Amino acid sequence: MSTPAAQPVAAASHPGGQDASTAGPAAAPPLIELRGVNKTYGSGATAFQALKDVDLIVHAGEFVAIMGPSGSGKSTAMNILGCLDVLSSGSYRFRGLPVETLDRNQRALLRRHFLGFVFQGYNLLGRTSAQENVELPLLYRGEPAATRARLAQAALAQVGLQGWAHHTPAELSGGQQQRVAIARAIATQPAVLLADEPTGNLDTHRSREIMELITRLNRDSGITVLMVTHEPDMAAYARRIVRFVDGRVAEDRPNDHPVEVPDAPAAAEETA
Ligand SMILES: Nc1ncnc2c1ncn2[C@@H]1O[C@H](COP(=O)(O)OP(=O)(O)OP(=O)(O)O)[C@@H](O)[C@H]1O
Ligand SMILES: [Mg+2]
Repeated sequence: MSTPAAQPVAAASHPGGQDASTAGPAAAPPLIELRGVNKTYGSGATAFQALKDVDLIVHAGEFVAIMGPSGSGKSTAMNILGCLDVLSSGSYRFRGLPVETLDRNQRALLRRHFLGFVFQGYNLLGRTSAQENVELPLLYRGEPAATRARLAQAALAQVGLQGWAHHTPAELSGGQQQRVAIARAIATQPAVLLADEPTGNLDTHRSREIMELITRLNRDSGITVLMVTHEPDMAAYARRIVRFVDGRVAEDRPNDHPVEVPDAPAAAEETA
């Protein structure tokens, strides 16, 4: 990690020399800080402003649900937070690092080292085993085969799929496929899990299993979670709820009584 591109990104892991997880907001910059963010798609007569003056601060360890009507800008915001897209104006700081000043390669490094994604449609490679799917982001990051295998197996165990490493997506249920996708997102041991409607394709029972898993990752592994959902029952697991309306943050409130999730069963449920 000594390339020039890597240096500003590596700096993101050392916010002022403090341990960001314990130092608190006064001592270290927030994990995520959006200030006055605007996003416009297209130009001229067809221009569409999907985000309008969005401010959002998220500290390490938070679990935030993002809600709001269809077209309100939730995915646009997630894509910017996840360095999959760039803002039009305003600022995005990640652990104090001004992301809008990074070039494409630097943003990719930030993504590979600090961010994990889960999408509604799982986005797994079809003819590829669960383990190979989970290894993919580690491959992009240039990890050697033995490290990839070790981290992928650990991630599959974390989502309760240790016996399923060699199955392809077609041999897994929707809930299991989403767990593979979550394993892929956490295999790189990211600081943030960004999940865009992770339970959107699942029935209520499977949705609750996924929410319990995400809640445990946040609670027990300290991964900061930002999750988009349309379902109040799923948002109820988060400890903070942000609502987008028409490209703006219309509401930002704590959820003082999140759904309580028991510890993981000793032998994780492999039959879902
Ligand atoms: N690549 C794009 N080009 C042009 N317009 C876009 C693009 N992506 C999104 N939009 C527009 O920006 C607005 C916000 O879209 P976004 O996907 O962020 O909404 P959302 O809140 O995630 O909605 P949903 O709940 O349906 O997923 C929509 O009006 C959408 O049509
Ligand atoms: Mg969306």
